[in-house]
Amino acid sequence: MCKKILNPVLAILSFFYLCGCGPHSTKSDLPVYLDDNSPVNERISDALSRMTLKEKVAMCHAQSKFSSAGVPRLGIPEIWTTDGPHGIRPEVLWDEWNQAGWTNDSCTAYPALTCLAATWNSDMSLLYGKSIGEEARYRNKNILLGPGVNIYRTPLNGRNFEYMGEDPFLSSAMVVPYIKGVQSNGVAACVKHFALNNQERYRGFINVNVSDRALHEIYLPAFKAAVKKGKVWALMGAYNQYKNQHCCENEILLRKILRDKWHFDGVAISDWNGTHNTMEAVKNGLDIEYGTEISEKGKSDSYDHYFMAGPYLNLIRGGELDTTELNEKARNILRLELRTNMNRKRPFGSFANPAHSAADLAIAEEGIVLLKNDGNILPINDNKVKSIAVIGENAIKMMTVGGGSSSLKVKYEILPLEGIEKRAGKDIKVTYERGYIGDTEGSYNGVNSRQNLSEKRSAAKLIEDAVAAAGKADYVIYVGGLNKSEGQDCEGADRKGLELPYGQDKLIDALSDVNKNMVVINISGNAVAMPWKNKVPAIIQGWYLGSEAGNALAAVLFGDVNPSGKLPFTFPQKLSDSPAFAMGEYPGKDGQETYNEGIFVGYRYADEKKTDPLFCFGYGLSYTSFKYEDITIDRSEFDGKGSVKISVRIKNTGNRAGKEIAELYIKDPESSLPRPPKELKGFSKIALEPGESKIVTFNLTLHDLEYYDPEAGKWKAEKGVFEALVGSSSRDIKGSARFNLTKTTYEED
Ligand code: BGC
Repeated sequence: MCKKILNPVLAILSFFYLCGCGPHSTKSDLPVYLDDNSPVNERISDALSRMTLKEKVAMCHAQSKFSSAGVPRLGIPEIWTTDGPHGIRPEVLWDEWNQAGWTNDSCTAYPALTCLAATWNSDMSLLYGKSIGEEARYRNKNILLGPGVNIYRTPLNGRNFEYMGEDPFLSSAMVVPYIKGVQSNGVAACVKHFALNNQERYRGFINVNVSDRALHEIYLPAFKAAVKKGKVWALMGAYNQYKNQHCCENEILLRKILRDKWHFDGVAISDWNGTHNTMEAVKNGLDIEYGTEISEKGKSDSYDHYFMAGPYLNLIRGGELDTTELNEKARNILRLELRTNMNRKRPFGSFANPAHSAADLAIAEEGIVLLKNDGNILPINDNKVKSIAVIGENAIKMMTVGGGSSSLKVKYEILPLEGIEKRAGKDIKVTYERGYIGDTEGSYNGVNSRQNLSEKRSAAKLIEDAVAAAGKADYVIYVGGLNKSEGQDCEGADRKGLELPYGQDKLIDALSDVNKNMVVINISGNAVAMPWKNKVPAIIQGWYLGSEAGNALAAVLFGDVNPSGKLPFTFPQKLSDSPAFAMGEYPGKDGQETYNEGIFVGYRYADEKKTDPLFCFGYGLSYTSFKYEDITIDRSEFDGKGSVKISVRIKNTGNRAGKEIAELYIKDPESSLPRPPKELKGFSKIALEPGESKIVTFNLTLHDLEYYDPEAGKWKAEKGVFEALVGSSSRDIKGSARFNLTKTTYEED
């Protein structure tokens, strides 16, 4: 039976065939049309058998900035990727980063992933993934370049806002529903950047030296969860090196861990310009190369010079490589095609609609963290307060433009000042003063915020005017922090220091001298120093909240929403309290950087060294109060089978409905290897009416007790006593229970 497509007309029929929806035929000169029930592998094998060498190689590298080839002759569609991870990137030109000038690509901006992590609510993560996936689907993209799960190692990393914080358990729990939500649309999520891309400085070449233990316990778990539990269909390699080999072609990461141990059956793609060597990329499991900068930039034939294009073909033709790897890559790519744009059952998607705005708002409201509220000056009582001075550039600056590849072109963005004015209504007088000049630009890759932020007043005059306005108002709401310009929360560079930029510390200090009802909203994806912490009564961590930013902040300020977010990373007092500085070698030297702090990242370090964070991991206040009582455990001896159940009753003791996140940490007081004083192993977010109480039950399995034993190359749960600590934050432990693990076990990675 001849399986060749005989003429171009058959290409169309062939598409339906490969999708599994064509008619059956027994004619020898026509393809055998398989039905939907045909096993995927059979359909892949069949497609593969029809493809030429050149067609297979063409699938392994980009054909434009964001796409790679299908097989036009066979009707196999192209792959179209899009950033990610906070909204769908606007369309750029085929060969350039500049805008294509479409008028129908203004998306919904969702909160940055740090905010999502701060919700500690997996339902929010699912909603996020489902919503952004619908937008990707509508825009005909079949790979969404996100989510990002690199661990927050240093507060200076310019891209922390795109990730899910410092804890492997929290980020693992939050990444899985995001992926499932995206993929329910027939769009592949692409978890990134695998692995150890924990800083932007030197990202293109820095070689990370990290212990096996820290690699497995801290830096890999969220990726592993994405692959094994989230069943993610795509993964992006990182720019940096590990074991002196670039991560996009890294034998240990891509071949031994990702494929051999975790059995990843999706597509491994490079970061843009992250491929460096044909043989290594081919052998070690990279499937598609994107973004390589070839000297004839802008010319369409530059794609033929990619490492996985012409040079790959030449190695095969010259006999240095056979087609084993090529067939593996083509299989992975075809599998992704069948899961996405060749899956005729996938939904159609939707774009920037009211449901997506509502999703953004809900996530933003749940992620905002109330850090301080002395004298309960929040929420603002709109019956009493008559005037508010809003101060700070971030109250009027769009935050969806900038920050690097996650920059967006949005349908709309409610700015904080706008949200506050709207909520305050006509009975409260709202005035605005800028107070400082940060960044007056607002453009990225040709997307312009079209805001005119020019300012003629001097810095001294701006402070003077702001102080005057603050002195006259009942309340001051200061909206400052970082922004998405270079050197702040932005890809490609790191921050220079922990302090707020643009002289904001001095300004906040001056404002707090003239008004005691002062609320500071810090807009950032990173920890910042707060030398004025004791001088202001209320502080809010406001993140980057997306299209509905202003509405979400106003809802929390006025108490329409009771804040319920908690910090997904530690705010250190000073840089020297951050392990990457205290023990590590950040930012590295001569291309090398050693993570000397090992597993002691974030609160693990703060607990071990007994430092006093500005705000600890897992911390966040509410407008109500919660009482933890009756901590119980269902057994004192655990043989490793099933789970240990720890329960706690939580009561809302205030007079407002609210949500509390209960956190469970384990402590292994005696172990052969040093372990952190506590490690997060469970959390649960519950809603409680005033006076209501609920019992929260955590199930600890053997897996939760393990550490990575580098000698054995396995996970080890060591017999002996464990403590389960139940708390409202990593530093507010309400009670504990002990149990005895009766035997030592090992588990393969
Ligand atoms: C970033 C990726 C992004 C890609 C495409 C790279 O610079 O590191 O996260 O997905 O560009 O825009």
